[in-house]
Amino acid sequence: MIDFQALAKKYGTPLYIYDLDHMTRQFEKLKEAFRGRKSLLAYAVKANSNLSVISHFAKLGSGADCVSIGEVRRALLAGIPKYKILFSGVGKRDDEIKEAIESDILYINVESEAELGRVEMIAKEMSKEARISIRVNPNVDPKTHPYISTGLHENKFGVDMDTAKRMYITAKNSSNLDPVGIHFHIGSQLTELEPIKEASEIVADMVRSLAAIDIDLKFFDVGGGLGVRYNDETTIEPYDYAQAILGTLKGLDLTIVCEPGRFLTANAGYFLTKVLYEKVNGEKRFVVVDGAMNDLIRPSLYNAFHKVEVVGKKEENKTPADIVGPVCESGDFLAKEYPLPPLEHGDLLVLHSAGAYGFGMGSNYNTRGRSAEVVIENGKDRLVRKRENFEDLIALEKEFLEA
Ligand code: LLP
Repeated sequence: MIDFQALAKKYGTPLYIYDLDHMTRQFEKLKEAFRGRKSLLAYAVKANSNLSVISHFAKLGSGADCVSIGEVRRALLAGIPKYKILFSGVGKRDDEIKEAIESDILYINVESEAELGRVEMIAKEMSKEARISIRVNPNVDPKTHPYISTGLHENKFGVDMDTAKRMYITAKNSSNLDPVGIHFHIGSQLTELEPIKEASEIVADMVRSLAAIDIDLKFFDVGGGLGVRYNDETTIEPYDYAQAILGTLKGLDLTIVCEPGRFLTANAGYFLTKVLYEKVNGEKRFVVVDGAMNDLIRPSLYNAFHKVEVVGKKEENKTPADIVGPVCESGDFLAKEYPLPPLEHGDLLVLHSAGAYGFGMGSNYNTRGRSAEVVIENGKDRLVRKRENFEDLIALEKEFLEA
């Protein structure tokens, strides 16, 4: 049991809280699912990029899936070995490609023919051979929210199978490219197995047809996407997920790379916010809190549901209310029509499942400093990011202010 009252008192609100032991359990569950097979779990750093969180995964033996050179630097700083780091993303800059090659990470996930050309050119200038994997787009509908669906041709990610084949041949014939893997990621918050299986089958066939022309890959990178329960969704069991993938790889000797983000961190995280006021506009009840869309944008952006817990109060006489923040946007809400007891100034609300894509998608909109972040491990809490103050927010502008 987390003592939210004590944490609010100690660190203030709004506050992000991460249970590292929950993250460990999730990591072990997934690792176990692939037992007996060569596998690498590369934590998708974007889900929660706090250095202490990444460092926790490093200690568990995790790799890191990164989508900017900033994330690669974070992963290295947090202790992830370079040979367990992947660099993905649809638009990498030259300087990012150069640094990734210099850092000698496991491989770069290439997302277009043009990008392959850049990687080759840069590697050539550096007299190096860049290890690459190609992100293919298997054109499978992942059956998830359109904003987090990525495996259809209408999405910007990856390349179609024919293009991929051409790219592998180019890479094979280049002395500056070493094609070591194949990558796909069809979407996030996946709750059905069939699309993963279908995609995996298509990509495994590609691996076989490449082997037939003497291009032998080592890594089969299935991306991330494993969904979690926010409300009452049915989710996929790690074991079934692993079996679905492994079932498509018969006769192939590959290391399976998996890039989980949400699965590892979402339900380990809580967003703690304090009630400022209650108000009623006509018939409509609002609970105004000190957290806002700049702290947790998922409800505003995806209409995402986060379970709300009222701290230390009997949940009686509940009526529906919108939980809204101080930001000047009608879209600034954390929950809609949520049944809540009468609340007063100082009451605490906890939004659950906030450990993935919470703090990381935050902003300073309305000159609001971002929340502090705290972790709990073995029953002990510790600060892992200070609350931003006004000085932090103006630090990069102040010197330009004319007298
Ligand atoms: N690998 C790749 C290439 C990805 O694009 C992603 C997520 C992951 C791995 C990790 O996916 P996960 O295991 O977390 O589902 N902001 C959205 C989610 C965006 C996901 C983007 N890509 C949200 O809050 O739901």
